[in-house]
Amino acid sequence: MRVLITGGAGYIGSHTLIELLAVGCEVLVLDDLSNSSTVALNQVKLIAERDFEFIKGDTRDANLLVEIFSRFKPEIVLHLAGFKSVAESVDNPLSYYGNNVSGSVQLLEVMSKHKCTKIVFSSSATVYGAAKYLPYDEDHPTNPINPYGRTKIMIESIISDWCKANVNNSAIALRYFNPVGAHSSSLIGENPCGTPNNLMPLIVQVAAGEKDKLKVFGKNYNTRDGTGARDYIHVLDLASAHLSAIGYLKNNVGFSVFNVGTGRAITILELIEVFELVSGTKIEYEFVAERHGDLAIAVSDPKKAEKFLRWKAKYTVEDMCRDTWNWQINKPKIIKGLVSTAP
Ligand code: NAD
Ligand code: UFG
Repeated sequence: MRVLITGGAGYIGSHTLIELLAVGCEVLVLDDLSNSSTVALNQVKLIAERDFEFIKGDTRDANLLVEIFSRFKPEIVLHLAGFKSVAESVDNPLSYYGNNVSGSVQLLEVMSKHKCTKIVFSSSATVYGAAKYLPYDEDHPTNPINPYGRTKIMIESIISDWCKANVNNSAIALRYFNPVGAHSSSLIGENPCGTPNNLMPLIVQVAAGEKDKLKVFGKNYNTRDGTGARDYIHVLDLASAHLSAIGYLKNNVGFSVFNVGTGRAITILELIEVFELVSGTKIEYEFVAERHGDLAIAVSDPKKAEKFLRWKAKYTVEDMCRDTWNWQINKPKIIKGLVSTAP
């Protein structure tokens, strides 16, 4: 199968790429490298022992998309490209609507013209907003509270309308919960260009001595220990969910959404404890005020994906922490090009 993966040089994209190559897909990666580099792509070639085409470019570039669709003729698109920082989206909403929404519309237009009828879109648990009940199932009302989340729900609606307009079109939005972890080879992992805002990369910075202390946002939430609880999911489980989504789209039309989570939430202090155990490091932290807009708990009901995609998360929190830490140890050498193997 010929697969176009947008954002394939990024964190989730590069891990998904390995899965695609492993099952024999012919893959073209389109990425503008705005939050990634070609290092991960080179590492993927080593892990997969296979080559693939990479084009540096923007999903908003109509001419480039036409060139790709005319020549490569993708049968399915995995659409991961986009900006993903909640804070940035609040400061600069237009760049988020411009990149995420316009890029998706452009892509769907060119897909339609070239009769490419299948797309898997990277959505987010953030579309649910404040919980009316937990765990979130896919029928939970959506009410995102920041521009980033609103781009995701807008794109879902656009893709849904695209499916309604043509009975041959089929699409899945995967609503990821909190992706963490790295490939078990330690050859690729999360390597964003800017300063991280998410919990796991910050824990890692403290463990590595790059940061004195973690700021824990809030200690009076209604959770087991008062700190925020999340459904962390190993990036390799996320990657395999994309293959399951492709399988589903082969036999189904229309638009479907699926949660991609473990169905279990752990608190910040619990995550720190597991990380300390598997890494043998000490994570210093201090409590600070709650972060504006944060939820106490975000946890998925993953049953729909289990039933229809035949997908279930299999990695534990220990696996997530171990693989994150091993990648952190290996990363500086990989980035400097000193090694291309695991430690
Ligand atoms: P990432 O930033 O590592 O990957 C996104 C990739 O898209 C980057 O390589 C970037 O260079 C590229 N890109 C951005 N805009 C582009 C454009 N217009 N054209 C071409 N390439 C472009 O992020 P990630 O964590 O791998 O996330 C992938 C997708 O999953 C994103 O859509 C994100 O919103 C979504 N998502 C991520 C999380 C998370 O916590 N990581 C959670 C839920 C959803
Ligand atoms: N946290 C801290 N200190 C920090 C950073 C985070 O205590 O320095 C806490 C947060 O308050 C929250 C938990 O750690 O309780 C997780 O926070 P993240 O920022 O890692 O993740 P969020 O759940 O806030 O959001 C993430 C992504 C969103 C995505 C969502 C669901 O940033 O884009 O997961 O997938 F939509």
